[in-house]
Amino acid sequence: MKTKVISAANQKGGVGKTTTLVNLGAELARKRKVLVVDLDPQGNCTKTLTGQRHFQFEETVAAMFDKPKVVSIVDLIRPALLDGEPIQNLDVVPADFQLSRIIETSLTKINRERILEKQLAKLGETYDFILLDTPPNLSLTTLNAIQASDLILIPVDSGAFSLDGINPLLEAVSEIKDDEANYLILRNEVDVRNAVINEFIEDELEITKDKVLSVTIRRSEHVSQANAVSAPVRFYKSGSLVNNDYRKLASLIAG
Ligand SMILES: Nc1ncnc2c1ncn2[C@@H]1O[C@H](COP(=O)(O)OP(=O)(O)OP(=O)(O)O)[C@@H](O)[C@H]1O
Ligand SMILES: [Mg+2]
Repeated sequence: MKTKVISAANQKGGVGKTTTLVNLGAELARKRKVLVVDLDPQGNCTKTLTGQRHFQFEETVAAMFDKPKVVSIVDLIRPALLDGEPIQNLDVVPADFQLSRIIETSLTKINRERILEKQLAKLGETYDFILLDTPPNLSLTTLNAIQASDLILIPVDSGAFSLDGINPLLEAVSEIKDDEANYLILRNEVDVRNAVINEFIEDELEITKDKVLSVTIRRSEHVSQANAVSAPVRFYKSGSLVNNDYRKLASLIAG
């Protein structure tokens, strides 16, 4: 199977990019080999998957963006951990706050939007899925992620203006990708009881209907609790209903 590269992107903060990616990764890793690359200086998915917030510069994705000819992504890969033990089939390339400085200073690099794509090519077909977590903006790493992705997953939350952030992102996607841009919108934190909001969102999403995933992720306190203890939900509470949503998302994506 050819490696499928999927990024989670949305300029709006806090819509569930990181949470979705981490839990999708944990689901896919039941049967497939998965690498998660953190491209956000906030380092949130790094924290969930390693329990760690701070790293040596040389251990992070920032080193690769800083010196792409010298530092290979291969050397940055480490196993995802749960209570200090490796999670089977799930690896991570960490990021921390040091990435923000590199994003600012890389502006003059030639072909800077292709750094990640070239690095991922070095992995051959080691992984079935490579998942990219991006920051809530269209900075260098987000553009790199779009360039490298086969599919761009756009989580939206139930906030009334959740679609506002998408247009600049979609413009960037169609600018970077020459071919038909492959993106899908995922409704996150859906509260099934909130009919008014749901109807509003459905109306709003009508324009891009064929781009909205039929699977939605419900709002669940287990998600935030799991985040708080740095664990994917399926390890934190295997019986939680939200795991069914992530499982459906994973099987839809795994095809
Ligand atoms: N399905 C869900 N149910 C309950 N809480 C959720 C759900 N999805 C995400 N959250 C919570 O919403 C908050 C934001 O989620 P997350 O960090 O994944 O968003 P993000 O888009 O990655 O944010 P940023 O733009 O800052 O990177 C977190 O506190 C998370 O625990
Ligand atoms: Mg995030």
